[in-house]
Amino acid sequence: MWNTVKSLADATQSRRIEDLFAKDADRASRYSLTALDMLFDFSKTQIDDDILAALLEIAEKADVPARRDAMFAGEKINETEGRAVLHTALRNLDGDAVMVDGQDVMPEVLDTLNRMSDLSDTIRSSDVTDVVNIGIGGSDLGPAMAVKALAPYHDGPSCHFVSNVDGADIADTLRGLNPETTVFIVASKTFTTIETMTNARTAKAWLADNGVSDEGRFIALSSNVEKAGEFGIPADRVFGFEDWVGGRYSMWGPIGLSLMIAIGPDAFRAFLRGGQAMDRHFCAAPLAENMPVLLALVGMFHNQGLGHATRAVLPYDNRLMRLPAYLQQLEMESNGKGVSMDGADLDVNSGPVVWGEPGTNGQHAFYQLIHQGTRVIPCEFLVAATGHEADLQHHHDLLVANCLAQSEALMKGRSLDEARDKVADKFEGDELERQARHRVFPGNRPSTTLIYPKLTPEMLGQIIALYEHRVFVEGVILGINSFDQWGVELGKELATSLGPIVTGEQPSDGKDASTRGLVDYVLRYRGD
Ligand code: F6P
Repeated sequence: MWNTVKSLADATQSRRIEDLFAKDADRASRYSLTALDMLFDFSKTQIDDDILAALLEIAEKADVPARRDAMFAGEKINETEGRAVLHTALRNLDGDAVMVDGQDVMPEVLDTLNRMSDLSDTIRSSDVTDVVNIGIGGSDLGPAMAVKALAPYHDGPSCHFVSNVDGADIADTLRGLNPETTVFIVASKTFTTIETMTNARTAKAWLADNGVSDEGRFIALSSNVEKAGEFGIPADRVFGFEDWVGGRYSMWGPIGLSLMIAIGPDAFRAFLRGGQAMDRHFCAAPLAENMPVLLALVGMFHNQGLGHATRAVLPYDNRLMRLPAYLQQLEMESNGKGVSMDGADLDVNSGPVVWGEPGTNGQHAFYQLIHQGTRVIPCEFLVAATGHEADLQHHHDLLVANCLAQSEALMKGRSLDEARDKVADKFEGDELERQARHRVFPGNRPSTTLIYPKLTPEMLGQIIALYEHRVFVEGVILGINSFDQWGVELGKELATSLGPIVTGEQPSDGKDASTRGLVDYVLRYRGD
């Protein structure tokens, strides 16, 4: 399936992206797409008509539209776990029927949303000053990212996120909080995750140590309502969701409660509306005009086509500082798989390494390598046309100028002649040559830009749903199951077996020599 794209990709090695613009006055508009309120510009890549046609053919052959329809119809497309994949039902605000096993799930979804709204209103109008979400992975990254992203809308209690089993995380969070006015949300789909349960028990102990009853202080968000009950959280403070909501796709439902408490139920619904609008676009637009499809295909051209193993996500929007971390889970846990749905080895690379930091901070850290390093790193820029700080327009102008400057610099680079001109007044002869070579930028490095009007709740919903569907499309084309995560299991199992070894209760015999040596070191220094 990839042969045509790979040979077209090989043929691009000898040409420059800039020249594609010189040959085609309409390139910028022909290789960009507007959907809803966003503009996705992928013209600063090597993609041309032949490559795009070959990529679209791959999407068609992989049956992306049929797989998409199967997902929205509640078919059990998570085949290794025998589950439907219906996080989209959580943002189906109109309540149109969504059937799973012959039953409409929407009444329950909307009922839970209303219960969440009621509790949020109660908390927001009470004396609660702080809400601590205890969860990890999909039970942390989504709301943590979104609470930061939507700071201008945050008018509820302060929100904190504790995820790491490292006691430093909860200790640093609790320091300074008032036990009388703090509420804990235990967010765990399974309600068995060791990090979350350990932190939740520590939170309980903290209340007790401060002489405060935990009654009314805990809320549970989980598919495992029974376990939440065993932890001592009464049913009216448990918000359940079904197994057809994957952890990393779960912020649209109960896992988003901390976000709802922060910004209020109306703004939370606006976030859902944004996601729902993207769902509609994804379902209705033809492949060639479908933003999640094009985002996926451009990414796959760079990874599976050209072999670029990583992708930098660079939001020029400081409040999206947690987006790269959020996308790491969304993309790498979903599409970091080596076998296809039927268990055969993949014949192309799996999803890329996703990483990044907000601009302009990254410019002063790792952009050096992006511009002059020996490996090509496709970059995805995100930027809002308008900021929230009307009185700081000059900041926003600088931000936007920097974002656009980076994609221009990546594409154009700087030739040896231009570099020489830059320093010709300072050096001469061999030294001029040497100095000039350090100032050459190869350029011809691909980037895309996603630009949107302003980071509102609705806009954030559109962006996150866009990325979710991009991951879906990539997974369908790879023929993998994007909705399981068996690759996290082995480490969990070994951690369980190492638990009594690192405390010295059990010997380390049977472990490899490296692990035994590390255990010995720990035991020498371990505090009692
Ligand atoms: O270990 C991986 C994982 O299962 C993620 O997929 C999930 O988001 C995270 O752990 C937390 O799981 P839970 O919500 O069940 O605590």
